[in-house]
Amino acid sequence: MNIAIISGSNVRSSGNGSISLRTGELLKSRLKDMKSDCSVNLVDLRDYKLTSCGMCESCAETQRCVEDEDFNKLYDTIKKADELIFICPHYAPIPSKLVILFEKLEEMSYLGICSGKKNFHPTNGKKAGIIAHGGMTEGYDQRYKEDILTPLTNVMECIGMRVINKMGNKPICFGVQDFEKVDNKRTYDIIYDMDGLQQAVDGFIELYARS
Ligand SMILES: Cc1cc2nc3c(=O)[nH]c(=O)nc-3n(C[C@H](O)[C@H](O)[C@H](O)COP(=O)(O)O)c2cc1C
Repeated sequence: MNIAIISGSNVRSSGNGSISLRTGELLKSRLKDMKSDCSVNLVDLRDYKLTSCGMCESCAETQRCVEDEDFNKLYDTIKKADELIFICPHYAPIPSKLVILFEKLEEMSYLGICSGKKNFHPTNGKKAGIIAHGGMTEGYDQRYKEDILTPLTNVMECIGMRVINKMGNKPICFGVQDFEKVDNKRTYDIIYDMDGLQQAVDGFIELYARS
């Protein structure tokens, strides 16, 4: 069993402390506890330079993007994985690299359908899920559900994934605990809700195990 976890943050300044990456790391260790023989590949989208789809249609025959070698690397990772998990921070509203990734996957899927190749697409029938998070201290459940979980679930289903979030009766997401103003700094320091992160990962794993 090969699982790919894709961390959708593009915040370079968070470095190794990226909350998306830390969510991915915790998830990876929980998945390994659950299935010791599985291989989990944690992908950090900050390491990829992606360019948006111009729908040139060159990928229709080759399943390669002629302009974006980094997308091709991600495509190979997704193809190799049996199951896919996305960690998505709330931006404005969805991080652009994640949008580009789904944009290209969906165009490839559409072009495949147009040329009669219905089941060639690498996401077809794969179990998948999403954990959403962001910088809100309260009331984020509904916001992250509307802005992140529902749109991503829709596009993932559109390219054939079996999205486990649909089974749960509450959104899998977490916010932050507080903000702190620090002198001489442009932005507030964020106090992360590590309990919220753990609970979201636990909720995800529970759903994942029974689907
Ligand atoms: C351009 C941009 C817009 C953001 N907008 C929002 C927002 O509207 N709501 C929100 O809860 N968080 C927002 N955030 C905060 C991020 O969700 C979150 O703090 C950040 O991605 C954490 O990055 P990390 O996962 O690498 O630590 C925004 C971040 C960026 C970079």
